[in-house]
Amino acid sequence: MDGLDTLKAKYLSAVAGASDESALEEVRLAALGKKGEISAMMAGLGKMDPDARKAAGASLNALKDEIDAALRARKAGLADAALDERLRTEWLDVTLPGRPRRTGTIHPVSQVMEELSAIFADMGFAVAEGPQVESDWYNFDALNIPPEHPARQEHDTFFMHRAAGDDRPPHVLRTHTSPVQIRAMMDKGAPIRVIAPGRVYRMDMDQTHTPMFHQVEGLAIDRDISMANLKWTLEEFCRAFFEVPSVELRFRASHFPFTEPSAEVDIRCSWEGGQLRIGEGDRWMEILGSGMVHPKVLRAAGVDPDEWQGFAFGMGIDRLAMLKYGIPDLRAFFESDLRWLRHYGFAALDMPNLPGGLSR
Ligand code: PHE
Repeated sequence: MDGLDTLKAKYLSAVAGASDESALEEVRLAALGKKGEISAMMAGLGKMDPDARKAAGASLNALKDEIDAALRARKAGLADAALDERLRTEWLDVTLPGRPRRTGTIHPVSQVMEELSAIFADMGFAVAEGPQVESDWYNFDALNIPPEHPARQEHDTFFMHRAAGDDRPPHVLRTHTSPVQIRAMMDKGAPIRVIAPGRVYRMDMDQTHTPMFHQVEGLAIDRDISMANLKWTLEEFCRAFFEVPSVELRFRASHFPFTEPSAEVDIRCSWEGGQLRIGEGDRWMEILGSGMVHPKVLRAAGVDPDEWQGFAFGMGIDRLAMLKYGIPDLRAFFESDLRWLRHYGFAALDMPNLPGGLSR
């Protein structure tokens, strides 16, 4: 059969010229597909006489194999070239630094809670917790504030609603963290050293008050703990917390039903050009209430006041955050304004610790 050489040259050059896999597939279909030129010639063999068919069949088969081999070789070549091209263009510099994405920050209140927990943990205080919906026995009675006591009015308490006929003990939103003193002592007995940071609630709202705010309670009970230990503990805490070489605290006689004697504590500071400085100056800023735990409170919590004594204090955490980080308005703490959070928030992975520095 002449013409086979022409066919061979035509398809081999088409194969060589196919620039990608789909062009190559078109060549394969045109030659060897069901309706392809060579397949059609194969089909025509049936009408030939046997001798001619034998010779033509052999050369057609040889041509078919040759084109088939050329198609395969070209296909492999194209795949290699495609891979090379991908390797050339789709590369990644794994030595590039990551792109920081500030998706969230730690709220200053959370930051301060972590900081003060780190400081008190270093002094041997464990962290205790109690419920925010508290029975009025823990919030008041056990703390030597009986029902008719005027201190109950001063606390601007939120009372939980009770259905008619509900005779469970009345509950309130805790007005301070002091009920955790009772819970911790009932749970662990004496001696004990705990702090209890958490949310508290009072009906009050202005630039320096929000109906929900945060306190940290401190409690240290042992056989011979005194006001001197309280003073040292608080000074040590303030020095570490405000990250200044020294602080000066002023203890003012005060009154709380659950401590005797009681003191409110002020810290020396200066306020110049809108800048607050802790540890120097001629101003005093009140930061906490404290005192020696009242014997009645120890007894209510199942601790024998003839054997044990100690101090307690309660500090406003939000106030501490405002003082340390220069935040002017308390209400903004709880507005969830992203711009505020980005400005005053802390990086999520910088956990405060004493050796590394509290607030890098
Ligand atoms: N619970 C008091 C308050 O909220 C603070 C306090 C705590 C005072 C412990 C003395 C001892 O004002």
